Amino acid sequence: MNQPVNVTVTGAAGQIGYALLFRIASGQLLGPDTPVRLRLLEIPQGVKAAEGTAMELDDCAFPLLAGIDIFDDANAAFDGANVGLLVGARPRTAGMERGDLLEANGGIFGPQGKAINDNAASDIRVLVVGNPANTNALIAQRHAPDVPAERFTAMTRLDHNRALSQLAQKTGTPVSQIENLTIWGNHSATQYPDVFHATIGGRPATELVDEAWLDGEFIPTVAKRGAAIIDARGASSAASAANAAIDHVHDWVNGTGSSWTSAAIPSDGSYGVPEGIISSFPVRSSGGRWEIVQGLEVNDFSRQRIDASVAELVGERDAVQELGLI
Ligand code: NAD
Ligand code: LMR
Repeated sequence: MNQPVNVTVTGAAGQIGYALLFRIASGQLLGPDTPVRLRLLEIPQGVKAAEGTAMELDDCAFPLLAGIDIFDDANAAFDGANVGLLVGARPRTAGMERGDLLEANGGIFGPQGKAINDNAASDIRVLVVGNPANTNALIAQRHAPDVPAERFTAMTRLDHNRALSQLAQKTGTPVSQIENLTIWGNHSATQYPDVFHATIGGRPATELVDEAWLDGEFIPTVAKRGAAIIDARGASSAASAANAAIDHVHDWVNGTGSSWTSAAIPSDGSYGVPEGIISSFPVRSSGGRWEIVQGLEVNDFSRQRIDASVAELVGERDAVQELGLI
């Protein structure tokens, strides 16, 4: 059995937190040989509900759960953290412009980045789930100059899983038969789910679906799925978001196979994405590091869509720079 790993979860009393914590404690985040200590961060008004969730976690008697601590102070919550799941964020409310949302979240992710910088363990790995996830990750990263930049990532695995599922349903194939899909860009409606390198049961996906379906149905369905869930459920996706967070960290720590997945990681300039912005790429993980899959041909259809989503990310970066948040 390995030593316990400290996993800090922010927004622990929220709906994603409720779907996430039990899966972490059961061993699905880090594997069956790794005990976890949960460190939950909430705002003061959320602490009582987090305590209730902690009672339920106790009542599960998970063999891998080595302890639970609850905090309303980020420095304390990230003390010794090996994994940080940054879920808690300020949601957009009526009348709020994009700049207001970025500013409100800058007030959360800047101090949390600094708390990570000052208190986390040297192997800290951060996944930002709270929206706008890519730019919140950038803000946190810029406040943590002593942490390697690549340790800050944002979640596009939910988009990846949504794309897999749509393609599986369209072609009548199990998801396990689909490989090498990519989500490029921002976790927003501009994201680009790319099937041009994907295979379905070993055959190129482009032999089974045409451009009209990609453009007219697949891309908008995946990109607007978050809004469709909100419309149907009256609340944003929670269990599927928690599932994707588990997938992202599990693969980051334990490695991917030969097929790749998608994650938003700091760009090294690959595929013309400006260096430094946190953009989704085709990635593999080995040795605990994400690596961008190199050498893929990008056709005009893809180039246009990647560029549009990356332009949105550059706009968000410029906006938070102007607001003095990075
Ligand atoms: P929620 O409102 O149910 O829960 C958010 C929790 O965060 C609340 O309990 C709140 O008290 C807490 N919180 C707020 N500010 C905090 C702070 N500074 N420190 C610690 N905790 C804080 O929301 P949810 O449904 O759990 O969603 C959380 C976030 O995840 C939202 O921003 C949502 O848009 C985003 N999301 C992202 C994806 C993705 O794919 N990247 C998918 C689904 C949801
Ligand atoms: C999602 O993708 O489900 C979330 O990011 C919620 C949203 O606003 O789309």
